[in-house]
Amino acid sequence: MSKIERDDISGTSTTGHEWDGIKELNTPLPRWWLWTFYGTIVWALAYSVVYPAWPLVNSATSGLFGYSSRGEVAKEIAEAAGAQGEWRDRIKAADFGQISQDPKLFEFARAGGAAAFKVNCIQCHGSGAAGGKGYPNLNDDDWLWGGTFEEIHTTLQNGVRFAGDNETRFSQMPAFGDGMLSPDEISSTAEYVLSLSGQPHDAEAAAKGAPLYAANCVSCHGERGEGVRDVGGARLNDAIWLYGGGKESIVAQITRPRQGVMPAWGGRLDDVTIKELAIYVYSLGGGETLQRQ
Ligand code: HEC
Ligand code: HEC
Repeated sequence: MSKIERDDISGTSTTGHEWDGIKELNTPLPRWWLWTFYGTIVWALAYSVVYPAWPLVNSATSGLFGYSSRGEVAKEIAEAAGAQGEWRDRIKAADFGQISQDPKLFEFARAGGAAAFKVNCIQCHGSGAAGGKGYPNLNDDDWLWGGTFEEIHTTLQNGVRFAGDNETRFSQMPAFGDGMLSPDEISSTAEYVLSLSGQPHDAEAAAKGAPLYAANCVSCHGERGEGVRDVGGARLNDAIWLYGGGKESIVAQITRPRQGVMPAWGGRLDDVTIKELAIYVYSLGGGETLQRQ
């Protein structure tokens, strides 16, 4: 039996529900709300026609305008590359001398190099390029393989002792502990190396080490320990050490040397990026003047 009736006060009908004399009114939704609701349905339908929306088996409907967020990103990247393209072309065409004469171009190249350094180099050389044990500091003016733009460029292009590059920079300090020098001789030679770098040392042992150094080490480290860059022979007469300057570290290196490996970037990064990286490393403060070239 229907109990639906009209409410005298509001003029709307009731739902028929009644609890202890309290009746529920069936008040219609407000007009504005209803139209907004219909509006959202129309909007949703239109949106799903214009923009990609409905999932299909392998993709989705592409929408009337063919919009895609991936496409937008690709467009932005293309625009950015276009804007940089002109500068990168100029870097490609110019030699280092020309780039360094043009402050704007130099700054663009340096900034590009700094960005590429963050992606490719900091895991070994540190974010500030200060290096660490076995990884050279690139801020100072102590270079294993040379600090002119060209020398840095070659190091980056071909790497150091990198198996995957035929023209990689290469040299191999012999393991003197394998029968070439006795532990005693190694100890004396190490004392002599300590004397070269002005550290406290045993003068008597160093005197014994001097001829051993002259016979075994000069070819790669120089007569006064100044280093020989053609073979990446580290400088031994300063306070900068790749593997540590204490007696123990020096003895360890003479006995069984470590051979640092730096990847070649030639096959992995494009020419302009390598040029930019070389300019960035050069600009870190330890870059050597053009006159040495
Ligand atoms: C996997 C570790 C590693 C990565 C990555 C790496 N390097 Fe090196 N780099 C080394 C090592 C090790 C040496 C020292 C090689 C040696 O002992 O002669 C070196 C040497 C160098 C040198 C020569 C320094 C000198 O004194 O002559 C330069 C310049 C250099 N790296 C720049 C870079 C740049 C620029 C990048 C990024 C594109 C980079 N490195 C990425 C490990 C790395
Ligand atoms: C064939 C060349 C060669 C000869 C010979 C050689 N070295 Fe080296 N030495 C190197 C190279 C190259 C390095 C750098 C290794 C690296 O980059 O990983 C080095 C590194 C060192 C280091 C570490 C420097 C640092 O900064 O930590 C010491 C110490 C050293 N040599 C001492 C000697 C002594 C002493 C002798 C002679 C008994 C000798 N070397 C003979 C090539 C040579």
